Amino acid sequence: MSEMIKVSFTLNGKPVTYNVAAQTSLLRMLRDNYNYDVKCGCEEGDCGTCTVLVDGVSHKSCITLAAQVEGKSVLTVRGITYGDDEAGHLLQKNFVECGSIQCGFCTPGLIMVSKEYLNNGGIADRSAIRRAISGNLCRCTGYKKIIDAVYKTAKEIGREERQNV
Ligand code: FES
Ligand code: FES
Repeated sequence: MSEMIKVSFTLNGKPVTYNVAAQTSLLRMLRDNYNYDVKCGCEEGDCGTCTVLVDGVSHKSCITLAAQVEGKSVLTVRGITYGDDEAGHLLQKNFVECGSIQCGFCTPGLIMVSKEYLNNGGIADRSAIRRAISGNLCRCTGYKKIIDAVYKTAKEIGREERQNV
């Protein structure tokens, strides 16, 4: 039988402790505890839909061990939805307004990497945005509308605008 461990961390601003088998991924720990806003796609680190921020840095939760978030702060798309971060709310509004969502399966992960981009001072620059979201796959939209949404958000929060395609 596998060794059980206790993992204590902050999830969307609230302290939580979960008991998991030592080899459990962060993705499995979150979803097994009803955090279904974190999507499970490939479970091999390829698609990015499971992305969360750990102490502000994006992690593909399927290839992150649960034990790695001990004492850390984990933010999921639910934390953005119910939090008071203006850029996070604008990002979600603009994903809707720009038509950046079709089936929506990629959306939570793309919101998280876009948030990381903006948190790190990202500007309205389509090339830079493309690079920032490059680890996340979308099978529906062709990416242009996703990039438009991040670009629009960067402009709305007063970031410099750089024209390129
Ligand atoms: S489910 Fe984690 S990268 Fe695809
Ligand atoms: S909207 Fe369907 S995978 Fe991106």
